[in-house]
Amino acid sequence: MITGAARGIGVGIARCFLDAGASVAITDLDEELIPVTAAELGENAMGLVADAASQVSMVKATAQVIDRFSRLDVLVNNAGVGGPKITPAENSASDSAALGMSDEMWDQQLMFNLRTAFSSSRAVIPSLPDGGSIINIASIAALGPSTAMPGYGAAKAGVVHLTKTLAIELAPRRIRVNCICPGVLWTRAWEFLTLQMQATQPELANMTQRQIFESVVEGMTPLGGEQTPEDIGDLSVFYASDKARMITGQVVAVDGGISVQ
Ligand SMILES: NC(=O)c1ccc[n+]([C@@H]2O[C@H](COP(=O)([O-])OP(=O)(O)OC[C@H]3O[C@@H](n4cnc5c(N)ncnc54)[C@H](O)[C@@H]3O)[C@@H](O)[C@H]2O)c1
Repeated sequence: MITGAARGIGVGIARCFLDAGASVAITDLDEELIPVTAAELGENAMGLVADAASQVSMVKATAQVIDRFSRLDVLVNNAGVGGPKITPAENSASDSAALGMSDEMWDQQLMFNLRTAFSSSRAVIPSLPDGGSIINIASIAALGPSTAMPGYGAAKAGVVHLTKTLAIELAPRRIRVNCICPGVLWTRAWEFLTLQMQATQPELANMTQRQIFESVVEGMTPLGGEQTPEDIGDLSVFYASDKARMITGQVVAVDGGISVQ
């Protein structure tokens, strides 16, 4: 089961698990898109509307998955949403960027990006078989200061911590818990981020969002270029496989070398 997978990285992760011969359940808050994406993924995929930040919702989704596929071996905690800067942005052309982050926005960032991993794991763990696997999608924002999205970075650092804690707690059942920190991928998350950049940096006004993204990626990635959702999916499949049977509590950045600079 992959949370937040109606679009973006989650779809790439789903494709990689399907290619590896698994059946896949994708969940999302987006009621319109989730059945469309599930249909595109084919007959071994099911789409469910569920809130990854709600145990009640995820317990219900888990029951639906087990009803259809008889078991649930792997949970990928992928749902997440970026947020604003802490302090008001200078030269801001948009009201939200001019305000900076409120208490409510901070709490939302923790809910969207950390509680999602906690609540979904808490809901699914009782149904995972011994030897199952949990994979948390954090971010390179978890690995160092994140001035562009500080609430998001703090929440994702919490996801890294949760990964290590659950790895120890679930080790007696041989359930392995690992984490992936993606770098930069052209998904809706970056469409929002480039919009935010355009609102606060007038010199970007004449560039398309994709051009802004490419110029950011070019300057920051030692291996050159952006990552793809399948780059994240390939490591997810490895983590879930028996080849990783002795790997738990680990955090790997799939970022073209950004985080080692
Ligand atoms: N795109 C990047 O460059 C990048 C980099 C690092 C980490 N990430 C992380 O990868 C994950 C996927 O990001 P993406 O770029 O595909 O984002 P996206 O916005 O393209 O897709 C995220 C999906 O999650 C869904 N979602 C959000 N909150 C949810 C909730 N509570 N319950 C269920 N569904 C929910 C949204 O409806 C959306 O369909 C996120 O955790 C994100 O923080 C992305």
